[in-house]
Amino acid sequence: MTDSGKLDTRLSRVYDNPDEKQALFDDWAPTYDHDLVNELGYVADAEACRRLEALLPDRQARILDAGCGTGLVGRRLQQAGYLNIDGSDYSEKMLDQARACGAYRSLVQHDLTLPIASAEPYDAAIVVGVFAFSVPSAEHLVNITGCLKPGGVALVTVNGKAWQEVDWPAKLEGFDQKYPDARLLDIQTIDYLTTEDIDGRLLILQRPGPV
Ligand SMILES: C[S@@+](CC[C@H](N)C(=O)[O-])C[C@H]1O[C@@H](n2cnc3c(N)ncnc32)[C@H](O)[C@@H]1O
Repeated sequence: MTDSGKLDTRLSRVYDNPDEKQALFDDWAPTYDHDLVNELGYVADAEACRRLEALLPDRQARILDAGCGTGLVGRRLQQAGYLNIDGSDYSEKMLDQARACGAYRSLVQHDLTLPIASAEPYDAAIVVGVFAFSVPSAEHLVNITGCLKPGGVALVTVNGKAWQEVDWPAKLEGFDQKYPDARLLDIQTIDYLTTEDIDGRLLILQRPGPV
């Protein structure tokens, strides 16, 4: 159980019930954008997209937005001029919202605790607002780097409250040695849920190999 006394109930509901999380996100889909952005001050999407833009100037690059939710990230990337964005999420209702926004070339249902099957590897992946207290967790990061071209980068946010409470630094210790097909290049602190006074971490990962 998280220290959810200090968390908004909409957040603690999904964080404290890992077995029901998929259904809870289905329920949340229609009001998610309003609740998260307008009420909870969610800025993780803007922070991560800004950093992806700095790392990936090619607007033709193939990008996977995993755990895309309603499409906040896809919309930002589309506005920034990216043309080839695919999305995935395990909630069908979230995918319905993402489909309606028109930012994605294709959208598939996928659970990030499993490897991503993609016919063609991606130049980059972005995963925002998905990694926090329970699953998916550090051992599932390789499912994301596994869908990248050699040299491709993945930007993954982690909720800053979870970062402290479930000791993400310990989970990431020795990451590069444990997973030879992935490299943890950097960990940056970002704004995340401003109204809740929760910051975040941005993990910058790479699939090793020539670009
Ligand atoms: C807080 S929302 C973030 C959505 C979007 N990336 C954004 O920044 O607005 C978390 C999303 O992750 C999805 N999700 C949670 N656990 C997942 C898992 N194991 N596999 C795939 N999607 C997952 C949920 O369905 C939800 O859409």
